[in-house]
Amino acid sequence: MKNKWALITGASSGIGKELAILHARKGGNLVLIARREKALSTLKEQLEQDFSIVVHILPIDLSEKDAISRVMIFLAQREITMDILINNAGFGGYGLFEERSIEADLNMVDLNIKALVQLTHALLPSMKEKKSGFILNTASTAGFLPGPLQATYFATKAFVLSFSEAIAYELKDSGVSVTALCPGPVKTEFEQVAGMEGGNFFEKAMSAELTAKRAYRAMENKKVIFISEYPLGFALRFVLPLIPRRWQAAMVYRLQKM
Ligand SMILES: NC(=O)c1ccc[n+]([C@@H]2O[C@H](COP(=O)([O-])OP(=O)(O)OC[C@H]3O[C@@H](n4cnc5c(N)ncnc54)[C@H](OP(=O)(O)O)[C@@H]3O)[C@@H](O)[C@H]2O)c1
Repeated sequence: MKNKWALITGASSGIGKELAILHARKGGNLVLIARREKALSTLKEQLEQDFSIVVHILPIDLSEKDAISRVMIFLAQREITMDILINNAGFGGYGLFEERSIEADLNMVDLNIKALVQLTHALLPSMKEKKSGFILNTASTAGFLPGPLQATYFATKAFVLSFSEAIAYELKDSGVSVTALCPGPVKTEFEQVAGMEGGNFFEKAMSAELTAKRAYRAMENKKVIFISEYPLGFALRFVLPLIPRRWQAAMVYRLQKM
Protein backbone atom coordinates (compact mmCIF):
# COMPACT_ATOMS: atom_id res chain seq x y z
CA MET A 1 0.00 0.00 0.00
CA LYS A 2 3.07 2.26 -0.26
CA ASN A 3 2.22 5.69 -1.73
CA LYS A 4 -1.43 4.71 -2.13
CA TRP A 5 -4.01 7.30 -1.06
CA ALA A 6 -6.66 6.29 1.48
CA LEU A 7 -9.60 8.41 2.57
CA ILE A 8 -10.85 7.42 6.02
CA THR A 9 -14.00 8.81 7.59
CA GLY A 10 -14.34 8.74 11.36
CA ALA A 11 -10.56 8.93 11.73
CA SER A 12 -10.44 11.01 14.91
CA SER A 13 -10.95 8.03 17.24
CA GLY A 14 -11.58 4.31 17.59
CA ILE A 15 -11.41 1.93 14.63
CA GLY A 16 -10.91 4.70 12.04
CA LYS A 17 -7.91 6.14 13.86
CA GLU A 18 -6.31 2.69 14.11
CA LEU A 19 -6.92 2.06 10.40
CA ALA A 20 -5.19 5.36 9.65
CA ILE A 21 -2.15 4.36 11.72
CA LEU A 22 -1.96 0.99 9.93
CA HIS A 23 -2.15 2.56 6.48
CA ALA A 24 0.51 5.11 7.43
CA ARG A 25 2.74 2.33 8.73
CA LYS A 26 2.54 0.73 5.27
CA GLY A 27 3.76 3.98 3.72
CA GLY A 28 0.40 5.13 2.37
CA ASN A 29 -0.87 8.72 2.24
CA LEU A 30 -4.06 9.78 3.94
CA VAL A 31 -7.07 12.06 3.85
CA LEU A 32 -8.65 11.97 7.29
CA ILE A 33 -12.22 13.09 7.95
CA ALA A 34 -14.17 13.64 11.18
CA ARG A 35 -15.65 16.65 13.00
CA ARG A 36 -12.97 17.18 15.68
CA GLU A 37 -10.20 19.24 14.11
CA LYS A 38 -7.82 19.04 17.09
CA ALA A 39 -7.87 15.22 17.18
CA LEU A 40 -7.29 15.08 13.41
CA SER A 41 -4.42 17.57 13.44
CA THR A 42 -2.68 15.77 16.33
CA LEU A 43 -2.94 12.49 14.40
CA LYS A 44 -1.70 14.14 11.19
CA GLU A 45 1.40 15.51 12.97
CA GLN A 46 2.15 12.16 14.58
CA LEU A 47 1.77 10.14 11.36
CA GLU A 48 3.71 12.56 9.12
CA GLN A 49 6.54 12.62 11.61
CA ASP A 50 6.66 8.85 12.27
CA PHE A 51 6.17 7.55 8.73
CA SER A 52 7.23 10.33 6.30
CA ILE A 53 3.91 10.30 4.49
CA VAL A 54 1.45 13.02 3.43
CA VAL A 55 -1.68 13.47 5.54
CA HIS A 56 -4.49 15.92 4.77
CA ILE A 57 -7.27 16.54 7.25
CA LEU A 58 -10.80 17.71 6.56
CA PRO A 59 -12.81 18.56 9.66
CA ILE A 60 -16.39 18.27 8.47
CA ASP A 61 -19.78 16.98 9.61
CA LEU A 62 -20.57 14.28 7.07
CA SER A 63 -24.27 14.31 7.92
CA GLU A 64 -24.59 17.83 6.52
CA LYS A 65 -26.25 18.24 3.14
CA ASP A 66 -23.30 19.56 1.14
CA ALA A 67 -20.60 17.51 2.94
CA ILE A 68 -19.75 15.13 0.12
CA SER A 69 -19.45 17.88 -2.50
CA ARG A 70 -17.08 19.66 -0.10
CA VAL A 71 -15.02 16.47 0.16
CA MET A 72 -14.86 16.16 -3.62
CA ILE A 73 -13.79 19.82 -4.04
CA PHE A 74 -11.12 19.29 -1.36
CA LEU A 75 -9.71 16.29 -3.28
CA ALA A 76 -9.93 17.99 -6.69
CA GLN A 77 -8.07 21.09 -5.41
CA ARG A 78 -5.20 18.82 -4.32
CA GLU A 79 -5.43 16.63 -7.46
CA ILE A 80 -5.77 13.48 -5.38
CA THR A 81 -7.40 10.35 -6.74
CA MET A 82 -8.17 7.82 -4.06
CA ASP A 83 -6.95 4.24 -4.11
CA ILE A 84 -8.76 3.26 -0.92
CA LEU A 85 -12.05 4.51 0.53
CA ILE A 86 -12.81 3.59 4.12
CA ASN A 87 -16.38 4.56 5.04
CA ASN A 88 -16.10 4.16 8.78
CA ALA A 89 -17.77 7.17 10.46
CA GLY A 90 -20.90 6.16 12.30
CA PHE A 91 -22.67 6.20 15.61
CA GLY A 92 -25.38 4.36 17.50
CA GLY A 93 -28.08 5.37 19.95
CA TYR A 94 -29.72 3.42 22.74
CA GLY A 95 -33.37 3.38 23.78
CA LEU A 96 -36.91 2.51 22.75
CA PHE A 97 -37.46 3.88 19.26
CA GLU A 98 -40.51 6.00 20.12
CA GLU A 99 -38.71 7.58 23.08
CA ARG A 100 -35.63 8.57 21.12
CA SER A 101 -35.25 11.93 19.43
CA ILE A 102 -36.27 11.62 15.80
CA GLU A 103 -33.61 14.21 14.89
CA ALA A 104 -30.88 12.00 16.41
CA ASP A 105 -32.08 8.92 14.53
CA LEU A 106 -32.42 10.76 11.22
CA ASN A 107 -28.95 12.20 11.75
CA MET A 108 -27.74 8.62 12.24
CA VAL A 109 -29.34 7.60 8.94
CA ASP A 110 -27.70 10.60 7.23
CA LEU A 111 -24.24 9.62 8.51
CA ASN A 112 -24.34 5.81 8.64
CA ILE A 113 -26.15 5.41 5.31
CA LYS A 114 -26.47 8.55 3.20
CA ALA A 115 -22.90 9.84 3.51
CA LEU A 116 -21.52 6.34 2.88
CA VAL A 117 -23.61 5.85 -0.25
CA GLN A 118 -22.80 9.34 -1.58
CA LEU A 119 -19.07 9.06 -0.97
CA THR A 120 -18.94 5.62 -2.57
CA HIS A 121 -20.84 6.90 -5.60
CA ALA A 122 -18.55 9.92 -5.89
CA LEU A 123 -15.23 8.05 -5.65
CA LEU A 124 -16.08 4.87 -7.52
CA PRO A 125 -15.76 6.22 -11.10
CA SER A 126 -12.05 7.10 -10.72
CA MET A 127 -11.32 3.71 -9.16
CA LYS A 128 -13.14 1.93 -11.97
CA GLU A 129 -11.24 3.96 -14.53
CA LYS A 130 -7.93 2.88 -12.95
CA LYS A 131 -9.30 -0.68 -12.70
CA SER A 132 -8.09 -0.81 -9.13
CA GLY A 133 -9.32 0.24 -5.74
CA PHE A 134 -10.47 -0.91 -2.32
CA ILE A 135 -13.63 0.12 -0.52
CA LEU A 136 -13.98 -0.84 3.13
CA ASN A 137 -17.37 -0.10 4.69
CA THR A 138 -17.74 -0.42 8.44
CA ALA A 139 -21.00 -2.28 8.97
CA SER A 140 -21.43 -4.32 12.17
CA THR A 141 -22.49 -7.71 13.44
CA ALA A 142 -25.63 -5.68 14.28
CA GLY A 143 -26.37 -5.77 10.54
CA PHE A 144 -27.31 -9.45 10.77
CA LEU A 145 -30.08 -9.03 13.34
CA PRO A 146 -33.15 -6.96 14.23
CA GLY A 147 -32.07 -4.67 17.09
CA PRO A 148 -34.71 -3.75 19.65
CA LEU A 149 -33.36 -0.93 21.88
CA GLN A 150 -31.12 0.21 19.01
CA ALA A 151 -33.64 -0.26 16.22
CA THR A 152 -32.39 2.46 13.89
CA TYR A 153 -28.71 1.69 14.42
CA PHE A 154 -29.09 -2.03 13.66
CA ALA A 155 -31.15 -1.16 10.58
CA THR A 156 -28.49 1.25 9.30
CA LYS A 157 -25.89 -1.51 9.57
CA ALA A 158 -28.16 -4.02 7.81
CA PHE A 159 -28.27 -1.48 4.99
CA VAL A 160 -24.46 -1.13 4.89
CA LEU A 161 -24.04 -4.90 4.82
CA SER A 162 -26.58 -5.48 2.05
CA PHE A 163 -25.38 -2.49 0.01
CA SER A 164 -21.73 -3.56 0.24
CA GLU A 165 -22.46 -7.16 -0.79
CA ALA A 166 -24.53 -5.96 -3.73
CA ILE A 167 -21.97 -3.52 -5.14
CA ALA A 168 -19.15 -6.01 -4.47
CA TYR A 169 -20.96 -8.31 -6.88
CA GLU A 170 -21.55 -5.57 -9.44
CA LEU A 171 -17.83 -4.74 -9.30
CA LYS A 172 -16.49 -8.30 -9.26
CA ASP A 173 -14.65 -7.99 -12.58
CA SER A 174 -13.70 -4.33 -12.25
CA GLY A 175 -10.54 -4.48 -10.14
CA VAL A 176 -12.34 -2.63 -7.35
CA SER A 177 -13.12 -4.67 -4.25
CA VAL A 178 -15.72 -3.94 -1.60
CA THR A 179 -15.46 -5.27 1.95
CA ALA A 180 -18.08 -4.97 4.68
CA LEU A 181 -16.38 -4.98 8.06
CA CYS A 182 -18.63 -6.44 10.76
CA PRO A 183 -17.15 -5.99 14.22
CA GLY A 184 -18.77 -7.22 17.43
CA PRO A 185 -18.43 -4.91 20.46
CA VAL A 186 -15.22 -2.83 20.25
CA LYS A 187 -13.76 -0.66 23.00
CA THR A 188 -14.02 2.85 21.52
CA GLU A 189 -15.99 6.03 22.13
CA PHE A 190 -18.99 4.29 20.51
CA GLU A 191 -20.33 3.02 23.86
CA GLN A 192 -20.44 6.50 25.38
CA VAL A 193 -21.80 8.20 22.23
CA ALA A 194 -24.56 5.57 21.98
CA GLY A 195 -25.53 6.11 25.63
CA MET A 196 -24.69 2.54 26.56
CA GLU A 197 -22.35 3.11 29.49
CA GLY A 198 -23.32 1.23 32.61
CA GLY A 199 -24.47 -1.90 30.80
CA ASN A 200 -22.34 -5.02 30.39
CA PHE A 201 -22.55 -5.16 26.60
CA PHE A 202 -18.97 -3.91 26.14
CA GLU A 203 -17.37 -5.85 29.00
CA LYS A 204 -15.52 -8.24 26.70
CA ALA A 205 -15.14 -5.80 23.83
CA MET A 206 -12.23 -6.24 21.40
CA SER A 207 -9.61 -3.50 21.05
CA ALA A 208 -9.88 -1.04 18.18
CA GLU A 209 -6.28 -1.86 17.27
CA LEU A 210 -6.93 -5.58 16.74
CA THR A 211 -10.21 -4.88 14.94
CA ALA A 212 -8.45 -2.51 12.55
CA LYS A 213 -5.56 -4.91 11.97
CA ARG A 214 -7.89 -7.75 11.00
CA ALA A 215 -10.09 -5.43 8.94
CA TYR A 216 -7.19 -3.99 6.95
CA ARG A 217 -5.97 -7.51 6.13
CA ALA A 218 -9.48 -8.56 5.07
CA MET A 219 -9.65 -5.52 2.79
CA GLU A 220 -6.28 -6.37 1.21
CA ASN A 221 -7.52 -9.94 0.71
CA LYS A 222 -10.69 -8.58 -0.95
CA LYS A 223 -13.06 -10.37 1.43
CA VAL A 224 -16.66 -9.30 0.84
CA ILE A 225 -18.04 -9.82 4.35
CA PHE A 226 -15.59 -9.84 7.22
CA ILE A 227 -16.65 -10.55 10.80
CA SER A 228 -13.70 -9.46 12.92
CA GLU A 229 -14.62 -11.47 16.02
CA TYR A 230 -14.17 -15.09 15.02
CA PRO A 231 -16.42 -17.18 17.33
CA LEU A 232 -19.18 -14.64 16.76
CA GLY A 233 -18.61 -14.99 13.03
CA PHE A 234 -19.29 -18.70 13.18
CA ALA A 235 -22.49 -18.16 15.17
CA LEU A 236 -23.76 -15.45 12.82
CA ARG A 237 -23.06 -17.40 9.67
CA PHE A 238 -24.14 -20.90 10.67
CA VAL A 239 -26.32 -20.78 13.79
CA LEU A 240 -28.28 -17.53 13.49
CA PRO A 241 -30.01 -18.42 10.19
CA LEU A 242 -31.61 -21.40 11.99
CA ILE A 243 -33.22 -19.15 14.63
CA PRO A 244 -36.57 -17.44 13.81
CA ARG A 245 -36.21 -13.64 13.42
CA ARG A 246 -38.71 -13.02 16.26
CA TRP A 247 -36.51 -15.02 18.64
CA GLN A 248 -33.46 -13.13 17.41
CA ALA A 249 -35.22 -9.85 18.28
CA ALA A 250 -36.07 -11.15 21.77
CA MET A 251 -32.46 -12.28 22.25
CA VAL A 252 -31.04 -8.87 21.25
CA TYR A 253 -33.56 -7.09 23.50
CA ARG A 254 -32.49 -9.20 26.51
CA LEU A 255 -28.80 -8.71 25.74
CA GLN A 256 -29.13 -4.94 25.51
CA LYS A 257 -31.61 -4.31 28.35
CA MET A 258 -29.93 -2.31 31.12
N1 LIG B 1 -17.45 0.12 18.81
C1 LIG B 1 -18.25 -0.86 18.48
O1 LIG B 1 -18.64 -1.69 19.33
C2 LIG B 1 -18.66 -1.05 17.05
C3 LIG B 1 -19.16 -2.29 16.65
C4 LIG B 1 -19.56 -2.47 15.33
C5 LIG B 1 -19.44 -1.44 14.42
N2 LIG B 1 -18.96 -0.23 14.83
C6 LIG B 1 -18.88 0.85 13.85
O2 LIG B 1 -17.53 1.25 13.75
C7 LIG B 1 -17.47 2.57 13.20
C8 LIG B 1 -16.46 3.38 14.00
O3 LIG B 1 -16.92 3.52 15.32
P1 LIG B 1 -15.98 3.40 16.60
O4 LIG B 1 -16.41 2.20 17.35
O5 LIG B 1 -14.57 3.54 16.22
O6 LIG B 1 -16.52 4.64 17.45
P2 LIG B 1 -15.93 6.09 17.72
O7 LIG B 1 -14.66 6.00 18.47
O8 LIG B 1 -17.06 6.84 18.34
O9 LIG B 1 -15.63 6.64 16.26
C9 LIG B 1 -16.60 7.22 15.44
C10 LIG B 1 -15.93 8.15 14.46
O10 LIG B 1 -16.92 8.74 13.60
C11 LIG B 1 -16.74 10.16 13.59
N3 LIG B 1 -18.01 10.83 13.39
C12 LIG B 1 -19.12 10.75 14.16
N4 LIG B 1 -20.09 11.55 13.68
C13 LIG B 1 -19.57 12.16 12.58
C14 LIG B 1 -20.09 13.10 11.65
N5 LIG B 1 -21.33 13.58 11.75
N6 LIG B 1 -19.29 13.50 10.63
C15 LIG B 1 -18.03 13.03 10.52
N7 LIG B 1 -17.50 12.12 11.36
C16 LIG B 1 -18.26 11.70 12.38
C17 LIG B 1 -16.15 10.46 14.97
O11 LIG B 1 -15.40 11.67 14.96
P3 LIG B 1 -15.92 13.10 15.44
O12 LIG B 1 -16.66 12.91 16.71
O13 LIG B 1 -14.63 13.85 15.57
O14 LIG B 1 -16.76 13.61 14.32
C18 LIG B 1 -15.21 9.30 15.15
O15 LIG B 1 -13.99 9.55 14.49
C19 LIG B 1 -18.90 3.09 13.26
O16 LIG B 1 -19.46 3.03 11.96
C20 LIG B 1 -19.62 2.13 14.19
O17 LIG B 1 -20.98 2.04 13.91
C21 LIG B 1 -18.56 -0.01 16.12
